[in-house]
Amino acid sequence: MKKRQPNSLAIRFYGDKTLRKEAAAVTEFTDEIKDFIDDLVVTMYEKDGVGLAAPQVGRSLRIFVVDPFWFKEDHIKNPLVLVNPKLYGFLGEVELEEGCLSLSEIYETVPRAEKVIVEGMNEKGEKVKYEAEGLFARALQHEYDHLDGILFVDKISKLKRIFIKKKLTELKSTTDKDGNNVG
Ligand code: NI
Repeated sequence: MKKRQPNSLAIRFYGDKTLRKEAAAVTEFTDEIKDFIDDLVVTMYEKDGVGLAAPQVGRSLRIFVVDPFWFKEDHIKNPLVLVNPKLYGFLGEVELEEGCLSLSEIYETVPRAEKVIVEGMNEKGEKVKYEAEGLFARALQHEYDHLDGILFVDKISKLKRIFIKKKLTELKSTTDKDGNNVG
């Protein structure tokens, strides 16, 4: 059988309603879900992201993909898929600048735990567990937040939010009357 070519998906921007929903757990690893995961991975690399969550492409499902090091290590791609993830074992705190494909041109310092443990399933429905630190831990926390409708700009100070208000308003202004924002 001929393998399906993955598609690049449109990114939803700040203002889109799906970005603010609590995403639903995946209950079955259908072919459609597996194809969707392939699309998510391809889209992350195409948009030069280090992580991408399903709500960012308009699917309210508890799936995300991360690859925090592909820029650094000679662009070797090593995507990590997490389905129905759980985070625990938060340790320490670090502040570092973050960006997000749904918040283009906005970069702000966000406090995150230095270490975290994630458990969930991979793209095949197999159980996986990782003990993460540094950028990997940060990416996991950022992407996990997307599954609960949380964006990194929710975690910055009020003062910082005042400075990016214009950019946020611009992003939001392209949302249609149904609450969809496809750039
Ligand atoms: Ni993001």
